[in-house]
Amino acid sequence: VIPAEIIKKKRNRFELSSEELAFMVNGYTSGQLPDYQMSALLMATFFSGMSEVETSALTQIMLDSGQRVQFEDSGKVVDKHSTGGVGDKTSLILAPLLAACGLKVPMMSGRGLGHTGGTVDKLESIPGFRTDLSLADFKKQVDEIGCAMVSQTGEICPADKKIYGLRDVTATVESLPLICASIMSKKIAEGIGGLVLDVKYGSGAFMKTEDNAKSLAAGLTRVGEDHGLKVKFLITNMDQPLGAFVGNLVEVAECLAIMTGDDCLGAEEQSFNDCKELTIELATQMIQVSDLAMEETEARKKVIAALDSGQAFETFAKMCHLQGGNLGAIQLPTAFSTVVAESSGYIESYNTEQIGIAAIELGAGRKTLNDKINPLTGLRVHKKVGDLVEAGEPLFTLFAGKEVPEATQAKALINQSVAYSEAPIATTPLVLFRE
Ligand code: URA
Repeated sequence: VIPAEIIKKKRNRFELSSEELAFMVNGYTSGQLPDYQMSALLMATFFSGMSEVETSALTQIMLDSGQRVQFEDSGKVVDKHSTGGVGDKTSLILAPLLAACGLKVPMMSGRGLGHTGGTVDKLESIPGFRTDLSLADFKKQVDEIGCAMVSQTGEICPADKKIYGLRDVTATVESLPLICASIMSKKIAEGIGGLVLDVKYGSGAFMKTEDNAKSLAAGLTRVGEDHGLKVKFLITNMDQPLGAFVGNLVEVAECLAIMTGDDCLGAEEQSFNDCKELTIELATQMIQVSDLAMEETEARKKVIAALDSGQAFETFAKMCHLQGGNLGAIQLPTAFSTVVAESSGYIESYNTEQIGIAAIELGAGRKTLNDKINPLTGLRVHKKVGDLVEAGEPLFTLFAGKEVPEATQAKALINQSVAYSEAPIATTPLVLFRE
């Protein structure tokens, strides 16, 4: 087989066979196929696309490149995947919440990507918390307490890990079939029977329009169903940060507040209502993709009871303890600066991606691969789109553990991200669509 012939076939928009895809992917993973030929194939795929059959075949090949977790009763094993946003912290609550509802959640997550935050970075802001469990320990903990939250181990989909690294530096991340195969291979490898997708659209999402989000949701769903998963998706709005905080430890603190009913760094409970509401909605759908036979209203009641009774928090605390985290050692950061409204009026919109970039400027994310994040930095969002503000009123509070020289830059970005309107604003529902 000649690699250039396979690349040419894809370049000329023909469908590759499963054998041809396996030859390239396995050759690359084992080191026999060089970076330049895989890069060329990825770019050809970016422009030519892939059929549904090819996308499913690629998913299977990536899945077969590593190990798969197996649970005895996969009908009770579920997970959620979000396509990423700003202040999107629902995973931290969902895993223990669903465990408290009697399901198993083997959650494998990522670090921050682009302007968005990552679950692994957030968890690691808890002193001592380890996300690098072995696959065996991961499974053992899920069997024991119902959930574990880890980063992608080298044992899971090594082909995806290597190819994703190459895509990141060859401008081939934003390809629908490549995204679908990458995300779904890792989710299927977790051994789940059901998956809920939170596909975000808007100024803080990777997909800026509802239509693009729907295409991605349909692609991900198809691949999941081809591999025997029960899949549901929500299309949700990311035109403003979710909840009240953006960062790492401040987001963990917000999740703890939602699970305990306490307030958080001076923010009262209603300021994270949207985050709580979305968490409850996602959790309800996660029960729906499991084989717990339950009507939706009944599932929602069960979820709210597990959250409000403190059971979700108890499970979260157990998970922290087992993964080395010490909740008692958390020292919350202090507020050091505010950004105030420049005009009076209604908040018309936020450029949410820019708010995510401001958080990265403060040190909450990475600018280059090897940067260390500062877990203590972050920001509080005081106003939601549609809220009425007066000039001079605080819009954002900035938090840090130590002095942040980049704060001036971050404040400028935040200031520019806000648009004001004299007339009241019709707001968009948080959950736009579900299927
Ligand atoms: N996240 C992934 O894991 N893979 C992609 O391709 C994009 C986002």
